[in-house]
Parts: sequence; structure tokens; C-alpha cells
Amino acid sequence: MSNTVNTEKLSSARFATATDAFVEVFTASVDFDQRMAAEDIQGSLAHAYMLNTIGILSDAELAAIQQGLAQIQTEIAEGRFNWSIKQEDVHMNIEARLTDLIGIAGKKLHTGRSRNDQVATDIRLYLRNEIVNITAQIDRLQRGLLDQAELHAATIMPGFTHLQVAQPVTFGHHLMAWFEMLSRDRERLQDCAKRLNVMPLGAAALAGTSYPIDRHLTAKLLGFSRPSANSLDSVSDRDFAIEFAAAASLIMLHLSRFSEELILWSSAQFDFIDIPDAFCTGSSIMPQKKNPDVPELVRGKSGRVTGHLVSLLMLMKSQPLAYNKDNQEDKEPLFDTADTLINCLRAFADMIPNIQPKQTQMYQSAKRGFATATDLADYLVRKGMAFRDAHEIVGLAVRLGIDTQRDLSELSLQELQQFSSSISADVFEVLSLEGSVAARKHIGGTAPDTVRAAINTARAALANLNSI
Ligand code: ARG
Repeated sequence: MSNTVNTEKLSSARFATATDAFVEVFTASVDFDQRMAAEDIQGSLAHAYMLNTIGILSDAELAAIQQGLAQIQTEIAEGRFNWSIKQEDVHMNIEARLTDLIGIAGKKLHTGRSRNDQVATDIRLYLRNEIVNITAQIDRLQRGLLDQAELHAATIMPGFTHLQVAQPVTFGHHLMAWFEMLSRDRERLQDCAKRLNVMPLGAAALAGTSYPIDRHLTAKLLGFSRPSANSLDSVSDRDFAIEFAAAASLIMLHLSRFSEELILWSSAQFDFIDIPDAFCTGSSIMPQKKNPDVPELVRGKSGRVTGHLVSLLMLMKSQPLAYNKDNQEDKEPLFDTADTLINCLRAFADMIPNIQPKQTQMYQSAKRGFATATDLADYLVRKGMAFRDAHEIVGLAVRLGIDTQRDLSELSLQELQQFSSSISADVFEVLSLEGSVAARKHIGGTAPDTVRAAINTARAALANLNSI
């Protein structure tokens, strides 16, 4: 951090003494809010253009501001900009540098606005971009899931409830469950983006401004759907940040669930998948280890994003209208939420297409847990038995299987018939894992053909979303 900007503190005239050195550091946000420099410049350009159209800035002043801001943009991009804590935040740093560069016109830029509406505008612009970037990563991940699901639409694995083998499903069907979660996540982000895309600029400090500003023009220039309706609300509202953090927390929660399954599945005990070496690391002491670091880290990071959501909720709780300095605390949790989310989605999008399911192990595991017991009960129901009675009878058959260490499909017809005379040779079709999954062919079921149809529908929907 360099202190070479020679402009004095912008708001110093009212103060008899200088700010305490520690307070200066304590209250400054430039270390982290300089990240919104591009958005701050974008907002200033729109504001200056509007001021020119209403006659507050001359054409020459507007041109000087545009040229000065372009130079500042370059200095920042090339790492040559001297960020100063004396100038407190990104807004005052840029304005001070602009005044250094172009003189009096720079001092006119802040006419009719305040840092309160400026910062609210910057964050919205910033989050709007981040939502685009995050959605692109969700997209990559969803496509990876669709490709894997397509390859494994008929790959059989045990489905679980209570983490106990329940009924056979296909690996493709399981992956499509993850896909569905991400589709909702994506919708939530788009919904958040809609409410976020309202422009606070023009609210000024809290009450609006006495200049005849054209807020429709600035909103249009910045791509906002409309100017905000109430100046007090505009500068104090951080609902959009909380909504974003909530949507992000839910995405991370989903990723933590995917992670947990990948971690379990890659263990020797499950042995369902191989996570490629590129996404794992070894142990410094145990030579045999291959740890699923990426899913473990993602699982861990989900806690941190939910933590940010709680921070933002608590930040806003009980705040009186309108702007309060508390709001400066919104940025670090927001930035970290966006970074963490993008990184985790990216890691998953890179990893998922490279996961190798171990089909034989999955199949054997589905066979071990009496996964077709419900199919036997359904078979008896089709033969005229009440479901509850069928449930009882199948329980007895399962007990025989446990006692003799065989799957239901490995019991003989005679053995099965001792439980019910309705059982005949066609029972073995339903007791097979293939028969079990194939039977579930209604919408949302796990039958391979149904899964393939779901994949096609999802692919078309995704392509459609992206063409809008
Ligand atoms: N750095 C401040 C923030 O992040 C900008 C707004 C400051 N406004 C003020 N009245 N002190 O919120």
C-alpha cells in the first residue's frame, strides 16, 4: 500500500483535527473494495454522461472525465495505481486520482451523488457479473453430469435410504438427481439477479438530490431494469446480497452432499468410483493413501459460505434507515462467497467428467443388500395379495437369505414357494437388478430408458436457457 496520492482527505474541512492514525486504518475499506474498481468506474462514466445531458458537466469536462477514468482503469489493470488508505475506499481513491489527473472537472464528478448510492450501485454491478460467472460454472458442471449420466444410464448401483441398501438404481439416475439440485440453484440465482438489477444511483446520501438527474438514463446506460423506487431504501438495502449468499449457501450445501457421496464411494469400503489422481493427494506418512482432497475441501468450504450468509443477516439485523457504516462490512463476506463458490463449482466441473464408476463393484454391492425385496412384494401384490401381507412374507424370505448368505435371486423356486404358493418361475425376472430398475419406467423413475429421456429433456432445457 503506497501513500503517494497527494490529495488531502476529501472530507477534511469540517474536522479540526486529523483522523487518528489507527482509526484511519480501522475505517478504511480500500484493501478489499478496490476489487470493485471496474464497476466504480463504470458507474462514474454513466453518472458523468447523465450530468452532461442535463447541463451540469460541459462536453469538455465530460471528455476529460472519460479520458481520466480510462487512464485510471489502465493504471489499475497494470498494477500501477497507488491505492491509499488516506483515501479510505475505492470510490475516494479513484476520485482523488481523477482530480490529480484532470483538475477541476474531476471535482465535479461527485455532483448529485453520494458514496452511499455509489457503493450500492457498485456492489450490484459486481454481483451481477459474478452471477454470470457462477452460472457459467454451474452450466459446465451440469453438462458434465449429463455426459456421465448418459454413459451410465444403465449402470446399476444400490440406492440408499438411511445409508442402507434400499433399492437398485442406475448411476445415471443418481447423477441426474444432482443435476436437478443444480437446476434449482441456477433458477434461484437468476431470480436473485432479477431483484438485484435495480439501480440505486440517484438516491445520493439518502434523500435524493436537488439536481434534475435523469435516473432512467443512468439505469439504461448501466443495464439496470429500472431506477429504484425509494431513496432511503436504495442506500440501505442489502437484501440482494443476502439473497445471493442464501442461494450460494444452498449451492454449497448441494456440493457438500455430492462431496460426501464421492468421498464415501471412493473409500475401500464402498469402492464404487475412482477419482482421478489429478484431484487427489497422497499422505506424507502413509504411502498407500490417495485422499479425495477436492471433495473434502468443498465439503469443508460449504460451512464457510453459510457462515457468510449468517454474517450478512446479522449485519443488517436492526439497522435503522438509511445508510450506516456497518454496511461496509458486507463486502468481504460477499467477495469470499463468490470466490469460494466459483472455485468449488469449477473444481467439480473439472472433476465430474473424469470420475470412473466401478461397475462390477456397484453391481455386486446392489446384490448384497436384498435390494429387490420390494420388487418381490410388488410381484405378490400383482398376484392378488395385499401389500402388507406381501411385505411380511418377503421379510421371511429375506431372513432365509440372511441365514444362508444368499440374495433373493439366489434362492430356489421351491424355497421361495414355501413362503407363498403364488410364486412361480417368472419371479426371477423381478428379482434381477436389471428387472427391478427397468420396471420403474414412469416419469422420474430409474429405468435406463426413462433416465435417457430425462437426460434428453434436460439437455434441451439447458440449450434453451443458454440461447435466451
Ligand atoms: N466504503 C463505504 C462502504 O463500503 C462507502 C460508503 C461510505 N459512506 C459513508 N457515508 N461513509 O459502505
